[in-house]
Amino acid sequence: MSFLDSFFTKKEKSVLGVDIGSSSLKVVQLRKEHGQAVLETYGELALGPYGGSEVGQATNLSAEQITETLKDLLREAKVTTTNCGVSIPFARSLLTLVNLPYRKDPAEQKTVIELEARKYIPVPVSEVQLDWFIVPKGDPAQFAEGDATGAAAERMVEVLLVAVHNDELSLLQRVAKDAGIIASFYEIEIFSTIRAVVDEPIKPVMVIDVGAASTKTYVIEHGVVALSHAISTGSQDITRAISVSGNLSIARAEALKKQEGLSADTVGSSELVFSRIFSEARRVLMQYETMHKKSVTAIVLTGGGGVTKELGTYAKSIFSIDVRVANPFMKTEAPAFMRPILEEIGPEFAVAVGLALRKLGET
Ligand SMILES: Nc1ncnc2c1ncn2[C@@H]1O[C@H](COP(=O)(O)OP(=O)(O)OP(=O)(O)O)[C@@H](O)[C@H]1O
Ligand SMILES: [Mg+2]
Repeated sequence: MSFLDSFFTKKEKSVLGVDIGSSSLKVVQLRKEHGQAVLETYGELALGPYGGSEVGQATNLSAEQITETLKDLLREAKVTTTNCGVSIPFARSLLTLVNLPYRKDPAEQKTVIELEARKYIPVPVSEVQLDWFIVPKGDPAQFAEGDATGAAAERMVEVLLVAVHNDELSLLQRVAKDAGIIASFYEIEIFSTIRAVVDEPIKPVMVIDVGAASTKTYVIEHGVVALSHAISTGSQDITRAISVSGNLSIARAEALKKQEGLSADTVGSSELVFSRIFSEARRVLMQYETMHKKSVTAIVLTGGGGVTKELGTYAKSIFSIDVRVANPFMKTEAPAFMRPILEEIGPEFAVAVGLALRKLGET
């Protein structure tokens, strides 16, 4: 490498995605080189041991405990930048799709949306950060200004309202500040995941993010969340089931779950829990299809539970549509020898990759 090369390389800025999950923290550091996202480092640290529980189990830690874990992770993963974006848990946010009156003037539209939003948010608007997106219309008929009888129906737009409680934001801000990182944005985790793992621009796709305590499932159409739902079962429930049925410690059951997945001895417990998760996800899928009169064309499995061995095959047998396991590192450049491991663990890092990609777009 010439002096000039290294000079320019140094000037390229590195960025960080920080995913604060219920069971673990994940970070992904990227750098932009010749317009490409290059993977510099990544890492994960379980929160359980910092709060008196086991690896793989969900926790409810204080800001101080999360900060301590994050500092350790930043050190262990040899993170060299402080410029980052941080995830907001789906469980701490509110997403609703509503039909509101259309206004031609963007300023007027904004006023209408912000006034109407009050009706759909269960807490005072002053207590939340409010954001919204207008859903692009694929079907021009829905834009019609009158109906068949000639009466002027009011023209409507579909709006996705997004609210996050101020308390949640201030907790995350405190963690970031105390851990010594500089977050330029906080993003609800599902938007980060979409950026990292969904490439379908038009057709409806369903994402199933199997976390530790819960499974987040949502349908994306035209790149926008059309329906979202949290299922209160996650991968920790498989560990608990294996532990009970085999009379094993949580740690041993956790190891067995990762080793076997849906492929052998522990199949009973894993399949039981996944069948529960998938039947609820199927109901969400059918609800979407009935409401929107469209078919979901593919399913993307993600989250730590998405790493489960043979999960793709099992999901395919349940849903009978195209099922893919998320591979967010595909969007990054990495040494060839790392590809197999990155592909395997990818689903766990979807949120962190998505955050880092957004941050990279900022610089
Ligand atoms: N190889 C694997 N096989 C099966 N399960 C796994 C594997 N790796 C991780 N998991 C499980 O995935 C879960 C963690 O997933 P993830 O990291 O997505 O959760 P989280 O982000 O902490 O939680 P949440 O998104 O619900 O807040 C744990 O229960 C863990 O046991
Ligand atoms: Mg998560």
